[in-house]
Amino acid sequence: MAERETIVCQDVVELSRQSAQCFSHLARQSVEVSGCFTVALSGGSTPKHLYSLLASPGYKERVPWKSVHLFWGDERCVPPDHAGSNFRMVQESLLSKIDIPPENIHRMAGEREPQAAAAAYEKNLQEFFGLENGALPRFDLILLGIGEDGHTASLFRGSDALSETKRLVAAPYVEKLNSYRLTLTLPVLNNGAEVWFLVTGNGKAEAVKEVFSGSSDLPAAKVQPIDGKLTWFITEDAAAGLSAGGK
Ligand code: 6PG
Repeated sequence: MAERETIVCQDVVELSRQSAQCFSHLARQSVEVSGCFTVALSGGSTPKHLYSLLASPGYKERVPWKSVHLFWGDERCVPPDHAGSNFRMVQESLLSKIDIPPENIHRMAGEREPQAAAAAYEKNLQEFFGLENGALPRFDLILLGIGEDGHTASLFRGSDALSETKRLVAAPYVEKLNSYRLTLTLPVLNNGAEVWFLVTGNGKAEAVKEVFSGSSDLPAAKVQPIDGKLTWFITEDAAAGLSAGGK
């Protein structure tokens, strides 16, 4: 079982503040050690609060954006200007407000045929991280959320993508959404140096409780970094099913 830290926050404002402070500290530390900071961003509404805060005065100056490389943990199979695009959400909440080199933005091509987009992103990862012979990328930070059904990234219960052991990026068809998605696979998520879940809302309490039970086969429960740190930033309402202290 990966080392897990749980940070219970009063509300999404505090969750965003705490995670933003940790993000800027980790970014500076990574850039000092290795010269860059690689992040796989989550989609959804919760992380949008974090992205907006990171883009705000008093926060954006604390992150060495010129050495930060932003990737996506998953993407909807839509054009980048589509209302459902995770890229568009990040573009509007963060990228449009910070000074980051365009070459540091590594977008998943949601507009392409899904399998081709997945293969292209996998190639991008292999080239950027200098990977050979099936090696895995090691992101400095991977941001994730959890759905009320226990999905994470675009890994949904019953999906073949959950049992992918070789490919870095998959393009599963998600029955319940009647659409394809692009997603990093579990081997990549579990190779992250730091993996954070950002979780708010009472609707997530059941899924969170099940994941924390230690005996769940929900997709989010399969995120167990092999040699990395797992941190849950979770608001009190989403932690309602946990014992005191978020255990
Ligand atoms: C997406 C995300 C998805 C998200 C969860 C939780 O593309 O939507 O990757 O996995 O993290 O659905 O979303 P919220 O944080 O908005 O509840």
